[in-house]
Amino acid sequence: MSPYSAPTAPRPPLRVALAGIGVGGGGVVRLLEANRDLIARRAGRAIEIVALSARDRHKDRGVDLTPYRWEDDMDALVAADDVDVIVEMIGGADGPALTLARHALGAGKALVTANKAMIAHHGLDLARLAEEKDTPLKYEAAVAGGIPVIKAIREGASANEIARVYGILNGTCNYILTQMERNGASFADALSAAQAEGYAEADPTFDVDGIDAAHKLSILAALCFGTKLDIGAVTADGIRGLIAADIREAEALGHRVRLIGMAERDSNGLYQHVQPCLVPADHPLAYVPGALNAVVAEGNFVGRLFFEGAGAGAGPTASAIVADIIDIARDEYGPAFAMPVDSLDQAPVADAGARIGKHYVRLIVEDRIGVLAEIATAMRDAGVSIESLIQRGSEDGSGVVIVLVTHEGPASTIHAALAILGASDHVVGAPMHMPILAL
Ligand code: HSE
Repeated sequence: MSPYSAPTAPRPPLRVALAGIGVGGGGVVRLLEANRDLIARRAGRAIEIVALSARDRHKDRGVDLTPYRWEDDMDALVAADDVDVIVEMIGGADGPALTLARHALGAGKALVTANKAMIAHHGLDLARLAEEKDTPLKYEAAVAGGIPVIKAIREGASANEIARVYGILNGTCNYILTQMERNGASFADALSAAQAEGYAEADPTFDVDGIDAAHKLSILAALCFGTKLDIGAVTADGIRGLIAADIREAEALGHRVRLIGMAERDSNGLYQHVQPCLVPADHPLAYVPGALNAVVAEGNFVGRLFFEGAGAGAGPTASAIVADIIDIARDEYGPAFAMPVDSLDQAPVADAGARIGKHYVRLIVEDRIGVLAEIATAMRDAGVSIESLIQRGSEDGSGVVIVLVTHEGPASTIHAALAILGASDHVVGAPMHMPILAL
C-alpha cells in the first residue's frame, strides 16, 4: 500500500497507558483530549488513553482522570492486553521507573519516556532490549522538554557529521542567571525567586549543580556523534559559586554568563562538560531568557543549527511525549540512538585540561600590599598568561574583587594557578573561573 493512500480499513486505535501522573502526565491527558481529532488525522488512527497508574490516585492534578481505568500496580499496565504503549513519567534513574521500562520493553510494548536520568544511565541497555524485541523506545521529552531536538538531530540532520553540540540545557539555572543579570540579585535571592515561581525544587541540587544538564548532554552526545552513552565521563560544575559581580564583570567584558553543556568529538576523544561560561553577548545563546532551553548543533554540511524553546512545563512536555506517541502510531520508529547499539562507537575520554581557550578568573582578596604580586606569581608559576586585570575596591571592607582575563592556554594551567591561590591566606573564599567561549 502506498504511504499516501488512506487505509482501506481504519487502523485500530493505538492504546496508551500513563505511569506517573505529575505535571507532564496531566499535560498529556489534556493534550490528547484537546487535539484528539487533529492527532487522529495526523497519526492515521485514534490515540486512546486506556489506563493510568501513579502513587496517589486522589491527588488533584487539575484534570479529570475518572474516565480512565486506574491501576495501583504499574506492572498491571505491562500485563494488560489492551495496552500498546507505556508512557513512563515516574522519574529517577533507577527504581520503579527502570523496572517498569525493562518490563514494558521486555514484554514487547512500546516505551515513551521523559526520564533523562534513566536514559543517561541505562539508555544503551534499554535500546538494546528495544532492538531485541523490535519495539520502539522514544525519549523526546527527556532532552530540552518541548524542543523537538531529538527528532531534528536524529532525522533532519541525519546526513551530517556533527562535531560539536552545546547549549542551555537547564531552565532553572537559566532563570537564575537571567534574574541575576536583570536585578543584580545574588545567587541565593535568584534561587529563592526560582523556587517561588515553581522553576526550582525545594532541593535544587540536580539543577544548580549541573547534574540535570549533564544527563541531557550525554544523550545529545550519543545521538550526535554515534558514540555509546557515557554519563560517567561527563563532568559538571554548577552555578552555586557565582556572585553578582561575576555577572556584572562578564557584561563589562561584552559577555553573558550561561550554564553551558558542551560536547565535542575530535581526534583527542570525546569531551563532555557542563559549566558556567562567558558567552559573547551577540551569540544567540546570550539572548535565551528565563527558563527557556536552547541547543546548538554544528553539522558539516548544514552548518549551525539553533533550537530554542521551553525545556519543562506541562504543555511542552506533553507536546514532546505525544509527538513520540504519534510516531509510534504511524509505525515511524527506528534505533533509539539513530543506529543500532552495536554500531555506536566507544570514544575515548578527551583530556579536558588540554583544551585551549581564554578564561575569566575572579578572586576576592584582602586589600593589602603584595596581593597582586602573589596573584601574578601564581599565574606565572602555573604558566598562565594574563591579558587583562581589573580590581574593584570593596565598599564594605569584605575584600576586593579581582577579575583576570587570560590569554589562550590550556585549562590545566588555570586549575594549577587556582590551586596555588586557593591555598593563600589572602584569598577570601573559593576563586571562580569560567571559559570565555569563542563561538
Ligand atoms: N528541572 C529541569 C530544568 C527541567 O530546570 O530545566 C527538567 O529536566
